[in-house]
Amino acid sequence: MSASLQGLRIVVSAGPTYEDIDPVRFIGNRSSGKMGFAVAQAAAQRGAQVVLVAGPVSLPTPAGVQRIDVRSAAQMHEAVLAQLPADVYIGAAAVADFAPAQAASNKIKKTAGQDTLTLTLVRTRDILADIATHAQRPRLVVGFAAETDHVEAYARGKLENKRLDLIAANRVGVAGSGFESDDNTLTVYAADGLAQALGPAPKTALADALLELVAARMPT
Ligand code: CTP
Ligand code: CA
Repeated sequence: MSASLQGLRIVVSAGPTYEDIDPVRFIGNRSSGKMGFAVAQAAAQRGAQVVLVAGPVSLPTPAGVQRIDVRSAAQMHEAVLAQLPADVYIGAAAVADFAPAQAASNKIKKTAGQDTLTLTLVRTRDILADIATHAQRPRLVVGFAAETDHVEAYARGKLENKRLDLIAANRVGVAGSGFESDDNTLTVYAADGLAQALGPAPKTALADALLELVAARMPT
């Protein structure tokens, strides 16, 4: 029997963000959105009222889920915070950490003899940290951490620094998991010492296992 999330309002972010350089170019990242969409679907199947804030992905909207499409990190920040109050926030999006200070209004042209192009990027706002420290903080805030190395140390650092309740870490840059793949392996950490390995398994199964942890840890 899977625990019900009936009556809970859950906001999920998913996918990459695209940061425009000019009208024809952007800076993006390798996120398919599959994990976040699977989380939204699994939450809806458990009876939650789900809002999915999605970056640019080519995935169908899960049944019973309200979807809001955004493009940039700034748009995702605004869309997610506009969904408060909520009971749970699950930040599965791969949000750009830096974006061009300003998108050029016309296509940037190269000039004869030009060998390099320097772009100045500025930090984006941290959606997850802003949600976790918000006056209307959801009762449970869950982050993801994509790491190539020192997975537990970096993930626990994010858990603490961003004031999260749970963080689901995955190792990226290894074959057969992470980006684009249908399968993944997660380890979920909490401040009380929890280190729960999930998978390797399809992202749909991982999403459901993650929601079982969410249901179990929901403050009453
Ligand atoms: N995140 C966010 N807003 C940002 C950057 C990240 O909400 N501007 C969230 C992601 O959705 C994810 C978590 O923070 O849930 C961790 O993202 P990750 O890229 O692994 O970590 P960062 O904190 O950005 O640190 P770094 O990329 O330097 O490892
Ligand atoms: Ca990042």
